[in-house]
Amino acid sequence: MSVAAPDIDANPVLSARDVVKHYGGVQALKGVDFDIYPGTVTTLFGENGAGKSTLMKILSGVEQPTAGQLILDGAPVVFTSTVDARDRGISIIHQELSLSPNMSVADNIFMGREILRFGQVDYREQARQAAALMTELEEDIDPATPVGELRVGQQQIVEIARALSARSRILIMDEPTSALSAAEIEVLFKVIHDLTERGVAIVYISHHLEEALEITDYAVVLRDGAMTANEVRAHIDLAWIVRHMVGDHYDLGSPPDGYDFGDTALAVEGLSVADATKADRLAVENLDLSVAAGEIVCIYGLMGAGRTELLETLAGNTAARTGTIRLAGAEISHRSIAQRIAAGLCLVPEDRQRDGLVQTLSVGRNLSLASIPEFIKRLFVSNNTERGLVDDGIRDVHVKTDGPDAAIGSLSGGNQQKVVIGKMLATRPNVILLDEPSRGIDIGAKAEVFKLLAERARQGVAVVYSTSEVSECLSIAHRIIVMSRGRIVAEFGPDTTQEAIMAASGESA
Ligand SMILES: Nc1ncnc2c1ncn2[C@@H]1O[C@H](COP(=O)(O)OP(=O)(O)OP(=O)(O)O)[C@@H](O)[C@H]1O
Ligand SMILES: [Mg+2]
Repeated sequence: MSVAAPDIDANPVLSARDVVKHYGGVQALKGVDFDIYPGTVTTLFGENGAGKSTLMKILSGVEQPTAGQLILDGAPVVFTSTVDARDRGISIIHQELSLSPNMSVADNIFMGREILRFGQVDYREQARQAAALMTELEEDIDPATPVGELRVGQQQIVEIARALSARSRILIMDEPTSALSAAEIEVLFKVIHDLTERGVAIVYISHHLEEALEITDYAVVLRDGAMTANEVRAHIDLAWIVRHMVGDHYDLGSPPDGYDFGDTALAVEGLSVADATKADRLAVENLDLSVAAGEIVCIYGLMGAGRTELLETLAGNTAARTGTIRLAGAEISHRSIAQRIAAGLCLVPEDRQRDGLVQTLSVGRNLSLASIPEFIKRLFVSNNTERGLVDDGIRDVHVKTDGPDAAIGSLSGGNQQKVVIGKMLATRPNVILLDEPSRGIDIGAKAEVFKLLAERARQGVAVVYSTSEVSECLSIAHRIIVMSRGRIVAEFGPDTTQEAIMAASGESA
């Protein structure tokens, strides 16, 4: 399909011409033309595996194109490495965090680009500049803190700060907001606005379409490695993006009906959890919650409301300070993570890169990993069984992969997340906990996950779904619980409104 040139009153600063990328037998890009303009936010839309990250890696020197050409300031260019691209003014914020957890915030920001004074690293100056960047991003993080101690969203801020510190004229942001709070996203958008005012060219990728549309000047859609549409902001809306992304309209649906729930599947009483970052504070405070078999409960709240701490504690990753947790009546408060999984409880964690996947194993092994104890228990470790389970997993959550033997790292970011969800569902749990599961997955995949959860609920599974997107609560929940500062502050039925939920959480709609 030939695509018309946009009506933008400037010359592109960086272009891709007929760029092709093969990974073995996979054709990730099939001859893409792509232009980036100074002072302009170009948003790149497309389903999981469409080729967005691949194109960005080529534009930032991480990967070399199989064929085609890059043009910088009107002249052909070859980036030999990321350092080479960075020296020419191009920075990238990667979809997967690339920080060293044991190093400090400041050391991470200046890694590979240390500030020198008399031939020595000037740690004081690095700390000063890092602190200034944190102020610019309105984040209260001490530059001396080891990155591993920060929550995922804060790590993402450090990743952003690192890219900003290079003061590049082209800044690529691949899913920069997947773990950020609404307030942090607002600050980032302010920063993006200031950058474009100064003439910086931005490329922005996000599966949060409404959010991306807010800052779009120029939109480009990729589908199966080819550009299917491009248009300036004035001529597009959400429906345009979805139509060109998936060629179809996806409805996330309304909550499943049928309110004949079973017995109580999960009962939490008086649960308190210490705050990992502030010892004198509680992340979860004296919380009671009961979820019936077949019920889908959404936990809505802002970042820092305590949702992640609650789910991590239920799953056994974090110790409770007080309280009891019961699964179908049996107390599990002192059981290990593996014992809880065996008892039918599973968690799709927020930080899927860290907790969800083993990067050295194949797609298939990752999918069956959590279920293997079940097979051992039945003395039934058969390859066929495992293969069947893996095939089901790949099909159920629509993982786009070459096959079960593909390396997990060869999947696109969103497809890796689908594997984590599939892996947990494969354990055939009675209670499924999901922490922001839709982050980074495309809207078709989200609809599939919702369908799967509704189906499991009908079969009697209890689902606890934590989200910071109100629209998701209204699409899936039988019951919506609002958390704020570690407590449940409101509870709604499925007929409530977006405004009511947001008001209860302390946000203004
Ligand atoms: N290192 C690799 N080896 C093999 N295949 C790869 C590799 N990297 C990407 N691919 C494949 O290239 C295709 C495009 O992947 P890419 O990561 O660019 O998608 P994406 O549009 O960024 O998706 P997402 O929204 O999920 O992040 C996918 O089919 C993916 O599996
Ligand atoms: Mg990607």
